[in-house]
Amino acid sequence: MRDLLSINDLTKDDALEILDTAVQLSALSESTNRKFPTLRGRTVVNLFFEDSTRTRISFEAAAKRLSADVINFSAKGSSVSKGESLKDTALTLQAMGADAVIIRHGASGAPAQLARKRWIDGAVINAGDGTHEHPTQALLDAFTIRRHLKKNNGDLAGLRIAIVGDVLHSRVARSNVLLLQKLGAEVVLVAPPTLLPVGVEQWGATISFSIDEVIASCDAVMMLRVQKERMEDLFFPSEREYARNFGLNATRIAAMKESAIVMHPGPMNRGLEITAEGADSHKSVIVEQVANGVSVRMAVLYLLIGGATSRDLTAQIGEQS
Ligand code: NCD
Repeated sequence: MRDLLSINDLTKDDALEILDTAVQLSALSESTNRKFPTLRGRTVVNLFFEDSTRTRISFEAAAKRLSADVINFSAKGSSVSKGESLKDTALTLQAMGADAVIIRHGASGAPAQLARKRWIDGAVINAGDGTHEHPTQALLDAFTIRRHLKKNNGDLAGLRIAIVGDVLHSRVARSNVLLLQKLGAEVVLVAPPTLLPVGVEQWGATISFSIDEVIASCDAVMMLRVQKERMEDLFFPSEREYARNFGLNATRIAAMKESAIVMHPGPMNRGLEITAEGADSHKSVIVEQVANGVSVRMAVLYLLIGGATSRDLTAQIGEQS
């Protein structure tokens, strides 16, 4: 694997290898509490054309934990705001010798363009492109589900996972549907019909228009942010009505299975898709998702540009430290 543009780039075994590597890296990080020299001398560029808090910081922390040099490039305040094209920006990064470029872009397909045209030699990692995909978010979500419900072992067969809300504008939903199904889970998409994309029936997931009909049978409930910035039209009558019909509140939390978990990729619209009780409930693993993101992104960087496989991870890290 050279780039990570879409979950479709991964076989089930590739995905499990990333997750297993992340488990090892997370355990090693906890036990040694120090940086690994694995990517010393490598340069990782964070190329963010869209705002981000969690994903950018998480990739930066992951790269630094592996001792890579990190360059943060945000479109605001750069020549991109003067109209410089993606190609020219990429050629500049190429001249700086980037080993990996982590790109977030408002246009679906921008990371694929960067990779296919090979304007840069380094690995291209999609950190969210338009409404298309966000593969590392799906991987960290799978890692979190596995940690809680499968004790870090195996695939996700036998689990039923609901993804609730603005599926239409969500790159997180698309990547998660692809990955969770690849790992054997059953996915239920819950949304008003206006927030489901055309052709969603072909995604292979079950579709429901009622959160109350599915909530009691799910092992994980993943809430999606209502993506107001991508909405030019009216998709629901009012925020109050959306919150009442699709929001995760205390009553719905109480209807969930005892072992089930509540997830959200962040940033949350508290009071819209999730209430404060929902976000802060004992079932919520939302803060943990962020922490898990670092381990998963370390694994992705390690496998893409570390020149190694997970099998020699302990040996390699052990030797170098
Ligand atoms: C998501 C994104 O940017 O796609 N956030 C994230 O990466 N943590 C989800 C969102 O913005 O709603």
